[in-house]
Amino acid sequence: MGPPGVGKGTQAVRLKSLLGVPHVSTGDILRAAMQDGSALGRQVRVYVESGQLVPDELVGDLIAERLSRRDAAAGFVLDGFPRTLAQVDILSRVLGRLGMPLSKVILLRAPQAEIVRRLSGRRTCPKCGAVYHLESHPPKSSGVCDACGAALVQRPDDTEDVIRERLRVFDEQTAPVADAYRAQGLLVDVDGTGEADAVASRIDATLGRGVTGVSG
Ligand code: AP5
Repeated sequence: MGPPGVGKGTQAVRLKSLLGVPHVSTGDILRAAMQDGSALGRQVRVYVESGQLVPDELVGDLIAERLSRRDAAAGFVLDGFPRTLAQVDILSRVLGRLGMPLSKVILLRAPQAEIVRRLSGRRTCPKCGAVYHLESHPPKSSGVCDACGAALVQRPDDTEDVIRERLRVFDEQTAPVADAYRAQGLLVDVDGTGEADAVASRIDATLGRGVTGVSG
């Protein structure tokens, strides 16, 4: 977990390969729903594009379905869930049902100026989901995805106004989630500044043996 743009997705993709478990991002799941033309997708779009959180029950149903799939049976890396105290309860119920403990919660931190710099330079691939940054991680060919060749786009919620609102929502609704996990002894604070590889090394240093579920 961590504020918008701190590098959750970047690190979760790497952890997925390291641990050999799926990367479950509620942001990615919701953006996929927005693209399928369904009534649900249209409902989700209103929240995401204004920087608000999608209602807990809706996200909870999506996450319960995703974590019940066979590929998640040996563990998973959660990215962007839970973001409210109600979602903490939902996750606890889902994991209880699945008989899987939450091993660790990683909280990435970075100063706001760095977060704004990261989000304003981010470009994403609408086809395969790869994430780039104009300065720190540019594609080999400008505006084109290295992995699949599609034209890169800027996320509609990466505008200045919406970034500000997402940061406000994080402080108001998600910071208490970090406090709750800290009280349970599950939270690890990780400095998210510096190059992605340096952040990755700090995360790796926090991982013990037998990790089966990492929320972030
Ligand atoms: P989501 O997609 O989860 O967005 P977010 O939390 O705002 O986080 P981001 O994806 O913007 O950033 P990130 O931390 O993953 O950073 P990244 O690695 O891309 O959610 C979007 C929306 O969906 C929410 O606003 C909400 O509406 C809804 N939603 C999602 N989950 C929900 C939930 N549980 N409940 C309700 N609603 C929910 O990095 C950012 C940029 O920086 C990239 O360009 C990257 O290349 C670059 N970068 C990364 N690390 C570094 C580094 N170390 N140095 C330099 N550049 C770096």
